[in-house]
Amino acid sequence: MPEEFKVTPWEVTGDIDYELLQERFGTTPIDQALLDRLSAGGDLHYMLRRGIFYSHRDLVPLLNEYDKGNRFVLYTGRGPSGSTHLGHIMPWIFNKWVQDRFGVEMLFQLTDDEKFLFKDLTLEETGSMAYENALDFIALGFDPKKTRIIVNTKNVDRLYPIALRVAKKVTFSTAKAVFGFDNSTNIGSIFYTTMQSVPAFLPSEDAGRQVPVLIPCGIDQDPHFRVTRDVAPGLGYPKPSLVYCKMCPGLSGGDKMSSSDENATIFTTDSPKAVKKKVGRAFTGGCVSVEEQREKGGNPDVCAVYKYNHYLFEPDDSKLEEMAEKCRKGEILCGECKMCLIEKINVFLEQHQDKREKAKDVVAEMTYDGFEW
Ligand code: TRP
Repeated sequence: MPEEFKVTPWEVTGDIDYELLQERFGTTPIDQALLDRLSAGGDLHYMLRRGIFYSHRDLVPLLNEYDKGNRFVLYTGRGPSGSTHLGHIMPWIFNKWVQDRFGVEMLFQLTDDEKFLFKDLTLEETGSMAYENALDFIALGFDPKKTRIIVNTKNVDRLYPIALRVAKKVTFSTAKAVFGFDNSTNIGSIFYTTMQSVPAFLPSEDAGRQVPVLIPCGIDQDPHFRVTRDVAPGLGYPKPSLVYCKMCPGLSGGDKMSSSDENATIFTTDSPKAVKKKVGRAFTGGCVSVEEQREKGGNPDVCAVYKYNHYLFEPDDSKLEEMAEKCRKGEILCGECKMCLIEKINVFLEQHQDKREKAKDVVAEMTYDGFEW
């Protein structure tokens, strides 16, 4: 019996069977025809080629509209509960590719209210983390003219009227069934989904016509967007389309990188020394002794170092395959692979940290509705 897994917006545990999850949620696999349309003769992002972004809702009608000249708006978000780590930026890197590929506008929602309600954090804490997280998002190179950052408590005057219309269409029994709430749940949490729905409708509201929206994000967010999609027609908005990715694994071999496991998580502000230490201790698919590994080879399929290359640091498929082959044949050992990954991460972080500093100069221009941080 495989270990039972659980994927909700607040909790991811166990060994995730992504095919089964897709079935349970009722989302659709991304097939070859869709991949061809997404590449449109150009480069297909490695996260699509490798099935990291693997499942969707209504991508076909969205692309049909795009082909007719009806551009969509991109929307994704982050619940600011701590420092940004590499697992958070993985889907953002993909969002940036979609923005460039289709030349579209983007909304990024920081849900300071959500993390206040669901975690033991003050609004001051979630508010300052929202700012820090925004710097990481901007550092990835989103077009400042085409990208707006929403902070829920700051943009409440624009969000609340739409959230109310959503709220009126969602019953307590739906919220209980979708999210597992019970009588001990605080009432803010029950309302929260409405706030996450709003950016899917804002583009239509702002333009005064039906604007398609595409939300690329982790599949753990699907429960929120099922609710969003259900209420959309009744409010006169198009249902948002979604494209979902798998969770970025942690360095300890688990299925999801998590801030609570600090030593197995690389934060965007980590020093080269910290990266060296964390990757040095990573879980690998190696053998107990060098002799045994030279003879039997290692197992890249379970190796966190290999997964890091697969998810984030080796976009070249042939190089990735070569790495796996050499490992299986015992031609490279874990120490070498770790050194190589440390180098890649540190090169990335050095540049990222520099861009993150520069982001402080543009962040004010990128706020939705011009709110002040
Ligand atoms: N609920 C998300 C989180 O906990 C934050 C979020 C808000 C989000 N809007 C989103 C994530 C849209 C993906 C897409 O991180």
